[in-house]
Amino acid sequence: MVSTSNTQRKIQEFVADDYRTAEVFSKYGIDFCCRGNRTLEEVIAKEKINGEDLLNDLANASQASTAQNIDYKSWPLDLLMDYIEKKHHRYVAEKSPVINFYLDKIARVHGERHPELFEIKKLFKESAEDLLSHIKEEENMFFPYIREVLEAKSTGNIPKKPEGYENIDNPIAKLMEEHDDEGVRHREIAKLSNNYTMPEDGCNTYKVAFKMLKDFQDDLHLHIHLENNILFLEAKKLADSLPSTAN
Ligand SMILES: [Fe+2]
Ligand SMILES: [Fe+2]
Repeated sequence: MVSTSNTQRKIQEFVADDYRTAEVFSKYGIDFCCRGNRTLEEVIAKEKINGEDLLNDLANASQASTAQNIDYKSWPLDLLMDYIEKKHHRYVAEKSPVINFYLDKIARVHGERHPELFEIKKLFKESAEDLLSHIKEEENMFFPYIREVLEAKSTGNIPKKPEGYENIDNPIAKLMEEHDDEGVRHREIAKLSNNYTMPEDGCNTYKVAFKMLKDFQDDLHLHIHLENNILFLEAKKLADSLPSTAN
């Protein structure tokens, strides 16, 4: 339940408690994944938003019953990491080449009348490349280390820290910075595409490309939210709670 006293809470806390609020923040153009560290009060003041409307919408979203409201916060961390890998990382790997293909096509056909398509195509291509190497780092370095830390809780075998992991804040800061870069890119894509609105002279491929871009952005928001606002916070607590006997 959202009340006026809740304006001191951070955006990321609302979303971590109830993901249904994410849709409301998206509607108001509030970035809840990369810039979720701001309080509701700060956002209302900065973005010049009608606070009353926003609070009402948040309250309504929390009351609406949807079968899809998943309480990710209650999940064990290993389940959350498996889920991120199999759902969100796989999604990026599978959809990126398809979206690149469609964007190439519509830029070729419609680029003359809609030159913003060249910029959108360039931004998405860069994003897909960077995301794939980011995901690789998570799957090959960060997640395996956190799985070892989790195991250490029951076995007592303190894992050896990989290079750069002496302080867990460092890899987390790097990964979060990369999330921010993608947030900036996709905000720019949303702006250039007039929030994924197809022009009147668009064709079916145009429509499919913009729909896929929008879905990609939505999936990325949830993906980054799960990592920034749940996984990293819990992983840090866990890693910091280990005795520092290993290097
Ligand atoms: Fe990820
Ligand atoms: Fe990530």
